[in-house]
Amino acid sequence: MSTHHTTDGHIGHASGPDSDADAAMAELLELDAEVLTPYLTELTGWISDVADTVPTRIADLGSGPGTGALALADRFPGAVVTALDIAPGSLRRLRHQAAVRGVSDRVRTVEANLDEAWPLPTHGEPYDLMWAAAFLHHLRDPARTLAQARGQLRPGAVLVVTEMDFFPRFLPEDAGVGRPGLEARLHAVTNPNPPHEWSRTLTDAGFTVEARRPFDIDLTAAQAGPALNRYAEVCLAKLRFHGAGSLEADDRAALDALLDDAHPYGIAGRGDLGVRTTRTTWIARRP
Ligand SMILES: C[S@@+](CC[C@H](N)C(=O)[O-])C[C@H]1O[C@@H](n2cnc3c(N)ncnc32)[C@H](O)[C@@H]1O
Repeated sequence: MSTHHTTDGHIGHASGPDSDADAAMAELLELDAEVLTPYLTELTGWISDVADTVPTRIADLGSGPGTGALALADRFPGAVVTALDIAPGSLRRLRHQAAVRGVSDRVRTVEANLDEAWPLPTHGEPYDLMWAAAFLHHLRDPARTLAQARGQLRPGAVLVVTEMDFFPRFLPEDAGVGRPGLEARLHAVTNPNPPHEWSRTLTDAGFTVEARRPFDIDLTAAQAGPALNRYAEVCLAKLRFHGAGSLEADDRAALDALLDDAHPYGIAGRGDLGVRTTRTTWIARRP
């Protein structure tokens, strides 16, 4: 599995099957999906508009704990969704969630390294829809994997690629501790690169890119719901881990105060958080 130590445009990933880092990542992704439900709903609605037929065979590439797989299973009640990922712990979480939601019969998991040759579709027929969220940048050779994806889609079917452009932000400009602008400085040291542009790679892999759509997400605490504080805490703890060595000492101390549940300004007890982020989605069709 690839290892990433930046948080630019994606959620980094650590190696090792069933590692603590995998479990932490899975929690973060589940919180991300819970808080950003309105975005996921809008996105799957758009996919249903651009799909040439109602999909019955769907693949979620690099599914993680399956937030995409489950959203697609909800959106397309007649579909069987195959979730492929290298991390068995994430796939276990997905199977558990699928059981909780009563969709186990329509959500299958396949442990696979998508840097290598792919397993054939479980049902033996090409997919009607593929989804790859926050995944392509993990691959050693995304073009090679995309070419395999193309080979397993039927002509006319769509691959949806969606990426986080920047890590989400949560705090007001003045967080009450330390100097104003802490979160911006934290992002500046942990997000050194611009978001990746996938259009060319998709075209080179034989897809026709039909749309590239940025989603601006800006939710209040009320819109984001009760998981917001935990989501903010997990995200900021991750940024603190990656950015600690580059931050000024006073910013590190302020961040530690924010991550302390007992601190009066701690993230856990705040009512003034929001979530601001952008995601970009590409709709790529197999000609
Ligand atoms: C940032 S997570 C995104 C998970 C999910 N798509 C989502 O949006 O919540 C990236 C996922 O890619 C998986 N992954 C990384 N390299 C992989 C590989 N070579 N083959 C299969 N999965 C891989 C990781 O295990 C992880 O679950």
